[in-house]
Amino acid sequence: MGRKKIALIGAGNIGGTLALLAAQKELGDVVLFDVVEGVPQGKALDLSQVAPVQGFDAKITGTNDYADIAGADVIIVTAGVARKPGMSRDDLLGINLKVMKAVGEGIKANAPDAFVICITNPLDAMVWALREFSGLPHNKVVGMAGVLDSARFSHFIADEFDVSVKDVNTFVLGGHGDTMVPVTRYSTVNGIPVPDLVKMGLSSQEKIDAIVKRTRGGGGEIVALLGTGSAFYAPAASGIAMAEAYLGDQKRILPCAAYVDGQYGLDGLYVGVPVLIGAGGVEKIVEIALDDEDKAGLQVSVDAVKELLDACKALDPSLA
Ligand code: LMR
Repeated sequence: MGRKKIALIGAGNIGGTLALLAAQKELGDVVLFDVVEGVPQGKALDLSQVAPVQGFDAKITGTNDYADIAGADVIIVTAGVARKPGMSRDDLLGINLKVMKAVGEGIKANAPDAFVICITNPLDAMVWALREFSGLPHNKVVGMAGVLDSARFSHFIADEFDVSVKDVNTFVLGGHGDTMVPVTRYSTVNGIPVPDLVKMGLSSQEKIDAIVKRTRGGGGEIVALLGTGSAFYAPAASGIAMAEAYLGDQKRILPCAAYVDGQYGLDGLYVGVPVLIGAGGVEKIVEIALDDEDKAGLQVSVDAVKELLDACKALDPSLA
C-alpha cells in the first residue's frame, strides 16, 4: 500500500503550517495548491528542505493545477481571504463563497473520494457551500471549528486552574462565530466538571464567565493582535487532528461543523456538534443532553448560521 495523499487547498499561513505538520507527522505525501503562481511551489520546496533536518519522509509538491489533487485521501481547504481587524468573519462571505465554488468544482472533478475538511470563514456557511459545490456525501465534508474553539477554551481553563492541559477536556458547540456555545457542564479537569470545581472554591463563576466570553472572541483577539490576518498555528493543528482521526480510523469524538439531519432538532445545515470521526468520515453525530440555557444558546447560533445560508443562496442562485 502506497503512502496516503494529503491535498491542501490554499498555501497561505494555515496551508503552510498544515503542510509542515502533515509532513512532520508523516501522514502522507503533501500537495500544496494555490491559485497564486510560485507560492505553493516555493513553500513546497522550502518545506521539502526541512525533511533532511528533521528526518521525515514525505514528498511535498506545490501546484496551481487542480488535476494534481487527484486521488487525495484527505483535502484541507483554507483557500480564501482572512479577516483583518475591525471585520467579522461574516464580512468574508461574498468573496469566499466564490472561492468555495472554484474549490468545490476542483474537488468534484479530481478527488471525489476524499475526506474534506474546511477551514475557510465564515466557517459554517462555507463548509455547507463547499459540500453543495462539490456534491460529495455530507459525511465526507466537515468543518474545522469546534476543535479550535475547544482548544482555546481548554487553554484558558488549564491556565485558570494551573493544571496540565492534558487533563482538560472542553466542548464548544454551535457556529464558529461570536454566538458559539462553550458548554461548561461538559468541560472537565480530569473528569471533574468545571461547575463542580467552582463549587469547590477553585475558581469563581465570574472568572469562568470571563473565560467563556474570551473563548467566544478567541479568533478576534488574535486578529486584533496580529493586525494583518488571523490565527494559523492552532487552526492548522486542529485540522490535522481531524485528518488523523480519519486516516487512522481513530473513532475520535470531536466537536466539528457537521451536517445535521434531524439531530438536535435541526436539519439542512452545518453547525458545530460532537461527531465521531473514523474511516467512514463523520460516522455519527453524538447527541448530548443540553440544558435549557445551552439549547437557547445553540438556537441563537443556528439562527445566525441560517442567515448566512440565506445570504449564500441570494448571492449564488445555484445554491437555492
Ligand atoms: C479563528 O477563529 O482563529 C479563525 O476563525 C479566524 C478568525 O477570523 O477569527
